[in-house]
Amino acid sequence: MSETAKLELAGKTYELPIITGTENEKAIDIRSLRAETGYVTLDNGFMNTGSCQSGITFLNGEEGILRYRGYPIEQLAEQSRFLEVAYLLAYGELPTQAQFDEYLKQMSNFNNLPNGVQKIIEQFPNNSHPMGVISSTVCSLCSFYPEYLKMPLEAEDRERGIVQMMAQTKIIAASFYRQTINKKPVPSDPSLGYTGDFLNMMFDKEPEPEILKALDVLFMLHADHEQNCSASTVRVVGSSEANIFATVSGGINALWGQLHGGANQRVLEMLTKIRDAGGDYKMFINKAKDKSDPFRLMGFGHRVYKNFDPRAKIIKKACDVVLEKLNVQDPLLDIAKGLEEEARSDDYFVSRNLYPNVDFYSGIIYKALGIPTNMFTVMFVLGRLPGWLAQWKEMREDSSIKISRPRQIYVGHNKREYVPINNR
Ligand code: ACO
Repeated sequence: MSETAKLELAGKTYELPIITGTENEKAIDIRSLRAETGYVTLDNGFMNTGSCQSGITFLNGEEGILRYRGYPIEQLAEQSRFLEVAYLLAYGELPTQAQFDEYLKQMSNFNNLPNGVQKIIEQFPNNSHPMGVISSTVCSLCSFYPEYLKMPLEAEDRERGIVQMMAQTKIIAASFYRQTINKKPVPSDPSLGYTGDFLNMMFDKEPEPEILKALDVLFMLHADHEQNCSASTVRVVGSSEANIFATVSGGINALWGQLHGGANQRVLEMLTKIRDAGGDYKMFINKAKDKSDPFRLMGFGHRVYKNFDPRAKIIKKACDVVLEKLNVQDPLLDIAKGLEEEARSDDYFVSRNLYPNVDFYSGIIYKALGIPTNMFTVMFVLGRLPGWLAQWKEMREDSSIKISRPRQIYVGHNKREYVPINNR
């Protein structure tokens, strides 16, 4: 008989099936719990809740392992390219040359934006936060491509939606940036690849190969991270059969928060503040440890990684390459390294397993590339997009999928009688 967990409740014993993943991860299947017992589980922040079974990304936070479709992130970062990884995430296998060429061809069908979308972007004040601009503009695409509104989507439309999002999101991001510096948009040139096209649209200049590789790796490291806050949002929104643009827009908004992707902007602001306060990072370490102070060390800590974030290791290396190539001496890098060293030997951070995460060094790279600070989280969007699309695709192809609808434990008033306003 297959393995089960026994639950004793009010004198009765229930047997709950155990589910085992391919990496021997174990879960107690409680899907029948409420129907059988009347009880639900309570798990704020879903710290111990598996929301789906997924074959996309494996991560082991204790051992610092991250693999996409079984391939270690270190190998992909060393040998692959971002678009190849995007293909791998969506379709499950590395592409052959012919499959990859076809993928690029499909993408080049969307190398511009409808006029109306360009006009929408023009309406945003130049000082708008780019994350708000990009999430609203991505959502607006559903008005220009109503064929995606019919549900369920045919497989063919789903595939087209995925390549369309990969092609157009970066155009939206770069167009708004060009507007903020009072420059005309630079047309998309898919032959430059995802990263090259984006940098060219931003700066009207083809980047050097070392810079291109560093940013490509950075995007790759961000490409998916299993059921994180924004991917879960994508699955929740997509589970209601909302269209692909509304769904991805939901993911963008979830990423914006400073506890998630927004941390990369906050890291740079924090490092700048430390520099402006005279570089005394020990004072900021003490602030982060002080429970009466809401300040946290941005770019430190992770819900899942409790040993080290394998992405942060690779990023630190990329950071050195970019700064050397561009001949940038950034005092913020010294502050970041000092902060990391200090925190790594401080019992508060060690005992809570708080290590630099993916956001800690990425901002220094973006800054060196000339990306404005308020666009750092947009860079995360451009990297995370394939992950959201793969999670959405996997969910939509799963015939057992149900609308996401958690339960709650009600702790409000019991029934009471209405009192008219003049009697209160
Ligand atoms: N600075 C200081 N203390 C921290 C930090 C931090 N960055 N992160 C966690 N802690 C402390 C908490 O105060 C808590 O201490 P306690 O046990 O004494 O109460 C303990 O460590 C556990 O923290 P939680 O908030 O319970 O951990 P959780 O898993 O819920 O949060 C999170 C993870 C949100 C990433 C958190 O570490 C954090 O706020 N980090 C800073 C923001 C950040 O860098 N976010 C990016 C994450 S990566 C990503 O999303 C791409």
